[in-house]
Order: sequence, then structure tokens, then C-alpha cells
Amino acid sequence: MPYYSEGQIEEVRAANDIVDVISSYVHLKKKGGEYLGLCPFHNEKTPSFSVSRGKQMYYCFGCGAGGNVFTFLMQYENDTFQEAVDALAQRAGITLPKQEMSGKARQEADRKMRMLEANKAAAKYFYAQLRMEQGQAAMEYFTRRGLSQDTLKKFGLGYSNKNSDDLYQYLRKQGFEDSILKEAGLVSMNEKRGAQDKFWNRVMFPIMDANNRVVGFGGRVMGKGEPKYLNSPETAIFDKSRNLYGLNLAKASKQPFLLLCEGYMDVIALHQAGFGNAVASLGTAFTQGHANLLKRYTKEVYCTFDSDGAGTKAALRAISILREAGITAKVVELDPYKDPDELIQAEGSEGYKKRIAQAKNSFLFETEVLERGFDLKDPTEKTAFYNAVAEKILEFEEPIERENYIQAIAEKYQTGFENMRKLVAHIGTKAGISAKPRKLRSGVQEKSGKAKGDGIRQSQRLMLTWLIEEPGLFEAVKPYITPEDFTEELYHKAAEALFAQCETGRINPAKVLDLFPDEKEQQEIAGMFHARLKEVDTKAEKEKALKETVIRLKENSIHYRSRHLEPSDLAGLQQVVADKRELQRLRQMDVLQIFGA
Ligand code: UTP
Ligand code: MN
Repeated sequence: MPYYSEGQIEEVRAANDIVDVISSYVHLKKKGGEYLGLCPFHNEKTPSFSVSRGKQMYYCFGCGAGGNVFTFLMQYENDTFQEAVDALAQRAGITLPKQEMSGKARQEADRKMRMLEANKAAAKYFYAQLRMEQGQAAMEYFTRRGLSQDTLKKFGLGYSNKNSDDLYQYLRKQGFEDSILKEAGLVSMNEKRGAQDKFWNRVMFPIMDANNRVVGFGGRVMGKGEPKYLNSPETAIFDKSRNLYGLNLAKASKQPFLLLCEGYMDVIALHQAGFGNAVASLGTAFTQGHANLLKRYTKEVYCTFDSDGAGTKAALRAISILREAGITAKVVELDPYKDPDELIQAEGSEGYKKRIAQAKNSFLFETEVLERGFDLKDPTEKTAFYNAVAEKILEFEEPIERENYIQAIAEKYQTGFENMRKLVAHIGTKAGISAKPRKLRSGVQEKSGKAKGDGIRQSQRLMLTWLIEEPGLFEAVKPYITPEDFTEELYHKAAEALFAQCETGRINPAKVLDLFPDEKEQQEIAGMFHARLKEVDTKAEKEKALKETVIRLKENSIHYRSRHLEPSDLAGLQQVVADKRELQRLRQMDVLQIFGA
């Protein structure tokens, strides 16, 4: 993975104190040995995001996000590991020699660069085609849809002509290799027919990332035909769940909120009508990745989706993802028009401005959609509806927020404030909660659930936490425990690294994390390293607790090995027997001698 040497990565890490770096993104307050703040990766009102200067790591007790200074940039800025290292090197004024890049990484970077160049050349080609004779029908199509020459230019719109390998021939002449064109999704290679352009006879929408680089294309048929839009596939430079159409322009709009819509044409029509803050997710559902991207530019998003069933569903989904990311959402309703483009055609920008002013609070939008599933004339169904609303209100963490929504609902449905408040309280106590526990980010499991009935993993985790907290214990533990006793693969890897660090006396938890390229694994290790040990009062209690953990871990390890022993593995068998004897001896000791005999 890294094309920088371990030493260089270490140099960059050492020059970028994690508390300083994160402080420029998150407001942190010192509390005990740690710094606390509101987690930037999920929505919360009370801080559970903790940064440790000693460990050079962060961890959120709410959503489980965690890692070192590199991971933070990767999560927050959507950086790759490489980019994070580069950014932090620059921050610290360290020059990293480029030639350090390994052959493979360099190749990969070059390929991406070539793909971007190919896309740019293709965009220019489509742009020129639109303005030639063969592009006349396409130009008429755009004009018919009301796009001005300025708009065409601003969005770099173009046309892919009727020849099926026209672009291919052009790009070949420009020196692009087949493999690059294929990988960029511009061309497909067919054994019988040779190279084929992916797009032909379509009006073309280049897709730019936030930095104005062309990462892909959408192509629309002019008139009827399937598919209506053809899009570039996901490639090494185009991740659909982390790209928003129009963001390159919208990010400079200086509006207090962004408009989120569904289609290319919606974004373009909105920009042309003066709403330069419109973006769209591209032919894919709105994701957490999109929300994180938006969060860099705004705190409030107005969803302006199609008025049909699919659009409503998409809005509900987006609202809940935005809310989870800590972005306030509102809903712009477009009835009776299908989408923003149509509304603007019919009522102009004034009409759309009115809709923005009437944008609905996202919770009230959700309850309205919910309401459609109930017949409020029927008393039973009416009750069920109120129960469902009460349950939704319980999802708000803050009592004051719950009160506000109880009030809004009471007014809207004329239930009376007290009645609604009682219902919410009743449903809350019935479920044994004052507020539902927040849903965790996808992929991150609740910790208590994970540890339940899982003593093996737990003792291994605990041991690692212990060593991180008090590296001095290593000497006491070393005679009994080796990294081989960590039977969970993840913990084994962490233990190997940590034991090696303990041997040299230089503990560097943040460095251990670099061994885990997988984000989920990294989070789990970060969580473990950030876990807090139960406070124990006396030295004897501590020694006793440590001894128990060592015994449990060793028992598990012996058990595991005997079960997995090959019958012919004599050495392995002897080791197990020896370990059993040692364990016996350990059991008879009162405590584990931490502070010397
Ligand atoms: P729509 O069908 O609402 O199209 O799809 P539109 O944006 O309003 O386009 P016009 O006005 O008919 O020209 C919304 C978005 O879904 C994706 C595109 O990103 C489109 O803008 N989509 C739609 C596809 O990727 N492929 C399709 O075949 C259709
Ligand atoms: Mn449309």
C-alpha cells in the first residue's frame, strides 16, 4: 500500500500532533488526559469523540469511528492514504521525495493520471462535436430544453456523434493506449468488431469532481430510447457514491444551504435559473459518502427530488442519511410538477424561490408520508399512527428537541400538547428508554452486543488495552503470554506489533493501525486501544485482575491449540503440555507480580 517508507510515514506522523490536526476541524476540550468534542462523523449533541495525545489516536464512543491522524484525514477529507500522508507532510513542511514511490504505486498513480487526461480529451472532443455540423440535432435538443450558450459552456456539455469508434480513433491518435481507454470506460473492446465507443449519438454531460477534473460522463438519448441515460462505469477515478454532479460549481456558491436533486438536467436548469447551489447524486441512491462530502461545504441541505413515489422514497432515505451525518435537511415540494427542471420551465425562478421559502421541515415531511399509510378516519388506525409518530419522536436525543416536535405534531394534528407528551413518555417507558439509542453507522456494531458471550475475544482485547494503557506491565506478562496466544487473527496481528514495540520500549499505538488497511478493522483496533479500564483501587486488586486476564487468555489459547493440533505435531503437543503446567503454577500464585517479587 504505502509508497513512502515506514520511516518517512513515521516522520510525517511525528510532525503532526493529532490533537493539533483534529483541532482545526473539530472543537476539542481537554478533559482528563484526553480531548473531547462532537464527533464529525455522526450527528450528536453530547461529545463522545475522544482524541488522545498520548496514543496519537481518536475514537468515537458513539459511532465507532476511530484511527490515527492519517485515518482522520482519510475519513474527513475522503483522502486516500497517500493523499493524507502528502497533506500532512505539506502541513509540517516536510518534502517527501517522489521517487520513493514503489514501482507498483507509481504505475497506479500514472494510470489514474492517464485516465483523467483521456477523459479530459474526450470531453473536449464531445464539446467540439456539438458545435459542428454533425452536432446540429444535439444543439437543437439542448436549445429546445431551454439551455443557453452560457450554460452549455459552464457545464461543458457536448455530443457523441453517430460513428461507433470515432472517439476511439481520435484518442488513439492523441496517443492514448487501448488499456487506458478501456479502463476509463470510454471504449469497449469486442473480438469481432474491434474497439467500440461507449457513447454514441447522445448528448453528453461530463461529470466533474469537486476539483474540476472530469471523472466520467453521462449521455442522454435525444428523445425516446433506452437507456435514457448511459453513464460511465465506476473506475479508479470515479466513485459514484462519493461524487455529486455540480458540486464543483456549487461549492463556490456561498449560499447557506445546498440544493440536492436527482438529475443532471435538474442541476443544470437550477443553475441557469440562478440557483448555483444545486447538486445531484448520479443515477445512484444517496449514500453516507455523499453526505460526508456535502458536510465539508454546508450544514443544511434542501432535498428537491421528483414528486413521484420513487422521489419520495429517495427523499426519505436522503433525510435519514443527512440527519445521521449531522446535516439539517428540508424538503422542497414540487407538486404538481415532476422535477425542478419542469417547475422552472413552467414558473421560472420566482416560482422556485417560493418553493424554497415553503420548504418543509424534514421530520414533518416524514410524518406526512407516514400518515399516508393510515386511514385517520378510523379510530384504531388513528391511534396506530400517533403511536408511530411518538416512536419517531423518541429517536431525537435531546429532550428539548423532543418537546419541540411534540408541540409541532400536537399543533398539526390538534391532539393537544399534554396528550402527545404523555403518549411519547408512555411509549418511551414501555420500551424501557427515555430515548431510543441512536442507530449506529452502517458496518459499525454496537460494542456491548459484540462482546456478549464472547469471552475469548474479550480477554484478548482486554490484554491489549491493558498493555497500551500501561506498557510497564509488559515485563510481568511476558513470561506467560506471547502473540501466539491471541487466537483471533485481528488481535494476533495487533499483538505481534505491540509486543515488538514493547520489547524496544517505544510504544506507538498509532503506528500499529497502519497494519490494518481495512477501515473496519482499523476502527476496531482504535476502539480497543481507546477502551477505558475499570478503575481499581489497590495494587493487589490490580495484580489480581491482571492475573485473571492472563489466565483466561492462556486457557483459551491452550484450548484452541489442542483442538487444532495435528496428531503428528509432537512439538506442538509438548508445548501445550508445558503451557498447561505453567498455567497450573500461575493459578496457584496469589497475584501476578507486577512490581517485582
Ligand atoms: P430522470 O429520469 O428523472 O431524468 O432521472 P431527468 O434528470 O429528469 O432527465 P430528463 O429531464 O428526462 O432529461 C434522474 C437521474 O437518474 C439518472 C440520471 O443521473 C438522471 O439525471 N438516470 C436516469 C440514469 O442514470 N439512467 C437512466 O436511464 C435514467
Ligand atoms: Mn427532468
